[in-house]
Amino acid sequence: MYCVRKVDEDLYWVGGNDNRLALFENIHPIPRGVSYNSYVLLDEKTVLFDTVDWAVCRQFLENIKAVLKNRTLDYMVINHVEPDHAACIEEILLRYPDVKIICTEKAFMFMNQFGFNLDEKVEKVKEGDTKSFGKHKVVFVTAPMVHWPEVMVTYDATNGVLFSADAFGSFGALGGKLFDDETDFDRDWIDDARRYYTNIVGKYGPHVQALLKKASKLDIKTICPLHGPVWRSNLGYFLEKYDKWSRYEPEEKGVMIVYATMYGNTESAANNLATRLVEKGMNNVVMYDVSKTHVSYLISETFKYSHVVLACVTYNLKIYPPMLDYLMHMKALNLQKRTFALIENGSWAPQSGKLMHKLLEEMKEMTILDNEISLSSRMKEDDAGSMDELADSIIKSMK
Ligand code: FEO
Repeated sequence: MYCVRKVDEDLYWVGGNDNRLALFENIHPIPRGVSYNSYVLLDEKTVLFDTVDWAVCRQFLENIKAVLKNRTLDYMVINHVEPDHAACIEEILLRYPDVKIICTEKAFMFMNQFGFNLDEKVEKVKEGDTKSFGKHKVVFVTAPMVHWPEVMVTYDATNGVLFSADAFGSFGALGGKLFDDETDFDRDWIDDARRYYTNIVGKYGPHVQALLKKASKLDIKTICPLHGPVWRSNLGYFLEKYDKWSRYEPEEKGVMIVYATMYGNTESAANNLATRLVEKGMNNVVMYDVSKTHVSYLISETFKYSHVVLACVTYNLKIYPPMLDYLMHMKALNLQKRTFALIENGSWAPQSGKLMHKLLEEMKEMTILDNEISLSSRMKEDDAGSMDELADSIIKSMK
């Protein structure tokens, strides 16, 4: 059975939701599922904006058929070729053999790489090119590295709709609620939206900034992303989040304590610091066991908070492996502009503090507080003074 939503006059959502996929890109847990959004415009010409992941192809095809009724499909605009959106291009070609594809030169190249043979069907477009489908006139705006090099976004100047590709997307299946104003986004969606952005597009902050700059010149009334809710009401809220995330600015002054513990002694020290911070008035403290928290959540929270404490046991004379993995993700995603405090632990040759310090120094604009603490097996009464100084130092650095 088809399941579609009207987005605007002439425009319909024809995507699908996947609640069965455990790991997005086979790496990021998505306990709330994910939506693959696609849109059909009914004008003098009919236009499909992107396809969907293979997992929801059947639903997608039923949706398109229901919206087109007895019309054929004239155009397919491909903003992004990653298979979670481009997997069903060939299915569309089989069902609508006369459809023309509109995409960038790079997208054309990628489609050929993925094995599609499209030569005569493609109209290649560049930055600023326009196209009229009848009443609706669109302009194509390139958005390289948001999130792949071939990406473009498409702006419909007639109704102010921006088809934004991966930008402004979120993890999470829609559950019938297509629009941002049908959800309590700040309560129910923002954590998944942040985790999506930071892990999928987080590395490309400067490119997102470039897109935001281009977008600021357009009169955008609706944002139609490829994942998650469509934005028609509170666009400023999400644009501000994107601006902050892509400049690597924290959302909140607060302390995220990430600890790596084998027998609970490093965890105990982390708890001691958290208690001191709260007693001194810093209540915005969150704690994560690096062994029990998927790194995508750690990355997302690191984008959120201004201060990070790494408390880490030494393991085989190195950084405890899950902590090292977290740090390597941080580096790969270009995370910057955070203040760190370090606590190492070890029973005979503590090394993790020195090694974490070195890794952080290799990242951009990371501040490491001087009061680095080295524990011998566990925190003891003798360490209380230095732990208290560390708490003071963290709070002082927030002012
Ligand atoms: Fe949702 Fe970059 O694909």
